[in-house]
Amino acid sequence: MKFFIDTANLNEIREAQELGILDGVTTNPSLMAKEGISGKNNVFKHYKAICDIVDGDVSAEVIATDYKGIIEEGEELITIDPKIVVKVPMIKDGIKAIKYFSQKGIRTNCTLVFSAGQALLAAKAGATYVSPFIGRLDDISQDGMELIAQIVGIYRNYDYQTEVLAASVRHTMHLINCAEVGADVVTCPLNVITGLLNHPLTDSGLAKFLADHKKVNG
Ligand code: G3P
Repeated sequence: MKFFIDTANLNEIREAQELGILDGVTTNPSLMAKEGISGKNNVFKHYKAICDIVDGDVSAEVIATDYKGIIEEGEELITIDPKIVVKVPMIKDGIKAIKYFSQKGIRTNCTLVFSAGQALLAAKAGATYVSPFIGRLDDISQDGMELIAQIVGIYRNYDYQTEVLAASVRHTMHLINCAEVGADVVTCPLNVITGLLNHPLTDSGLAKFLADHKKVNG
């Protein structure tokens, strides 16, 4: 399973990259706003800075919601760096744009996916990634993980090449369950990735090893 970090914060992206396990980055307009990035030039510069840090794919989301606008924005975004994947919302014009991009060999991430039907449309349009949101479904008492498993199963039935990129991942169990059901990619905040490191038996075991070593070595 690929690990993407879901942030526009350069320090967090750097930290995850230095850990040596990072496969890519996803951003969205809310995450860019959180970093105070505004204006087209600054936004483009920020995407470039992200691309310079990571080795893998970097999802950059379009703001336009009409077919022509999505195409124009996507074609501009991909000039920033070959790592850019155009993130397109799951709307009618978005699906049409994904089809257009896929025919031109431009990679896409279909975002804001909350149902298996939406995921089927994204795959049929040729999306590179589909992003179902786990946490936001859990927030409204629907099982987000069930949706991931359902989409993975459907894509396997027909050998769709679209990768299931589990998004809105809020904690380590989300991530582990994604691996259990066979998600291709998980995108999550840095604390979810680093949370995987922790176990009290690791801490107490290491303390004991070092204490025993000290007893005989001083
Ligand atoms: O990038 C989309 C998604 O990961 C957002 O997560 O926590 O805002 O629902 P969240």
